[in-house]
Amino acid sequence: MYPFQIKTYEDYKRQYQKSIDTPEDFWEEIAEHFTWKKKWDKVLSWDFKKPEVKWFEGAQLNFTENCIDRHLESKGDDTAIIWEPNNPNEQNRLITYNELSIEVNQFAQILKNLGVQKGDRVCLYMGMIPELTFATLACARIGAIHSVIFGGFSAKSIKDRVLDAEAEYIITCDGSFRGAKSIPLKSVVDEAIEELDPEIFSGVKKVLVVKRTEEEVRMKAERDVWYHEEKQKVSDTIFIEAEVMEAEDPLFILYTSGSTGKPKGVVHSSAGYMVYSTYSFVNVFQYNPGDIYFCTADVGWITGHSYIIYGPLAAGATSLMFEGIPTYPDSGRFWDIVDKYKVNILYTAPTAIRSLMACDNACVERADLSSLKVLGTVGEPINDEAWQWYHTKIGKGNCPIVDTWWQTETGGIMISSLAGVTPERSTFASLPLPGVQPCLVDEHGKEVEGNNAQGNLCIKFPWPSMIRTTWGDHERCRQVYFSAYDNKYFTGDGCLRDENGLYRITGRVDDVLNVSGHRIGTAELENAINEHAIVIESAVVGYPHDIKGQGVYAYVICEKMPKDAEGARQEIISLVRDIIGPVAKPDKIQFVSGLPKTRSGKIMRRILRKVAEGEIDQLGDISTLLNPEVVEVVILGRV
Ligand code: WTA
Repeated sequence: MYPFQIKTYEDYKRQYQKSIDTPEDFWEEIAEHFTWKKKWDKVLSWDFKKPEVKWFEGAQLNFTENCIDRHLESKGDDTAIIWEPNNPNEQNRLITYNELSIEVNQFAQILKNLGVQKGDRVCLYMGMIPELTFATLACARIGAIHSVIFGGFSAKSIKDRVLDAEAEYIITCDGSFRGAKSIPLKSVVDEAIEELDPEIFSGVKKVLVVKRTEEEVRMKAERDVWYHEEKQKVSDTIFIEAEVMEAEDPLFILYTSGSTGKPKGVVHSSAGYMVYSTYSFVNVFQYNPGDIYFCTADVGWITGHSYIIYGPLAAGATSLMFEGIPTYPDSGRFWDIVDKYKVNILYTAPTAIRSLMACDNACVERADLSSLKVLGTVGEPINDEAWQWYHTKIGKGNCPIVDTWWQTETGGIMISSLAGVTPERSTFASLPLPGVQPCLVDEHGKEVEGNNAQGNLCIKFPWPSMIRTTWGDHERCRQVYFSAYDNKYFTGDGCLRDENGLYRITGRVDDVLNVSGHRIGTAELENAINEHAIVIESAVVGYPHDIKGQGVYAYVICEKMPKDAEGARQEIISLVRDIIGPVAKPDKIQFVSGLPKTRSGKIMRRILRKVAEGEIDQLGDISTLLNPEVVEVVILGRV
């Protein structure tokens, strides 16, 4: 149905080969199937040293014309978005492509009326409601750069992101519903703005507030405006022109954690991101028109950007957006939704699968899951037990599972089987998509060739949706991704290749944790913990956690050992919640008198990791430490 959809393994091999032999021709042919205001002069130019990568240079476009306008004639009355509320008893919403067009157009006019212009940064801090999709697309429509901030982040995290991007506009909600809780988003935004130093950043001009929970909020005169009031002022029949975007104009910024410093703003381009997110969506999930597709991610993460909004809508798909959480009102919620809408494709995270596996079987059994054709996972390695459960209990043994490996920085799925088309193997992401050239490198930076190999995962050729820069700090982008290995993009992941050439991601090799599929830097956590008055130093490592994949284990040195250790733990946890957000809360805190260090004063995380994992007989040589005696103390105090 889609001209670039791969239907057989043979075809995959052919396409893959072509994408390696003649990448420009390969991508040019795919790009022909999109709507452009002007076609490109050059398909690709690149230099990983700088780094500089340009796809479809000279082209002009607007992504939203591909997500909306071009579908209106043939499928204007088809459902673009199914919205399922947090509370199953509340009214759902079905939004057709025609309605989406009107909503996005109106939202775009509102933004223009507020003064937003092409290139301005707009922060979105909202719950999972249709207006979040409208807002995202409205920014893209007028060429404003959106920066979506996950609704679980704290005021301090918002402040950092607003400041880094110098965002003068924020779109938020009064609050958002998540399970039995309601989160006061607007007041968190207020707090974030109050913390901004006017000397450093002249400030947020407008805050647009969408009503959702009806809770009371403070509206600052001049600055804060209600969406429903602004909507009265704009037309639903007069349509504004979509802004002309150059191929390499930034489409959005999305902040993500790295091994050092504060989260960095990953910048994605307009043309390349459009082509790749759509191409990968259609091929990995083998989407066919009419299929109901449900991705359970939050739009606050890259998965929601690429595979709830942009990829599916560009493909004219029906994308289901769910406001709530998998365990509310009970742990059968996902399965009830699949049953209610006869979902064909379900894309979720291993952490959700693991937590639902542990629940009452009856929650699964009560739902009719026979509509499912394809299952997917993303965000972290999936263990075999979870894979088998997903395969038999949810897929009833009939559905291929796509284990999709990718990153905020890659913009789209990089390594995955194509559902039912290419080989799959439990716990393996399997094969690279056409256009993706992965390689494994050893500790000397040398590429490890052949099958049955292991190493650090790099990508040695550009793909259209790759990161272009880190906002405001291009050097950081070079340092983090392009300096470790010559002429290669370094992913930060360890990986192995089996005897058949299938790839298995083994986890991060840097100081980044993956907790319930969320990326959190250990440095970020340590900085937050160190803010506590009694803390002198801390070291954070990950340890295997049954549900979360990785748990957060913090070793903390205090001025004096706290008398009320439990009380001190609670204080540190709540501090981390305040500074970063609830996702980052430590699972275990151990108060220690010292941390194992090298003679040059570096913390030996390897040892701390082994202790946290309970592998105390595998500590290796500790005699070269500055203070080998603390190792015993650390082991004894393990929590
Ligand atoms: C991890 C999420 C194993 C990996 C799209 C990567 C995975 C990080 C998988 C990116 C997978 C993601 N198997 N590990 N299928 N998918 N990861 O930026 O460590 O939130 O580097 O993007 O998640 O997380 P991010």
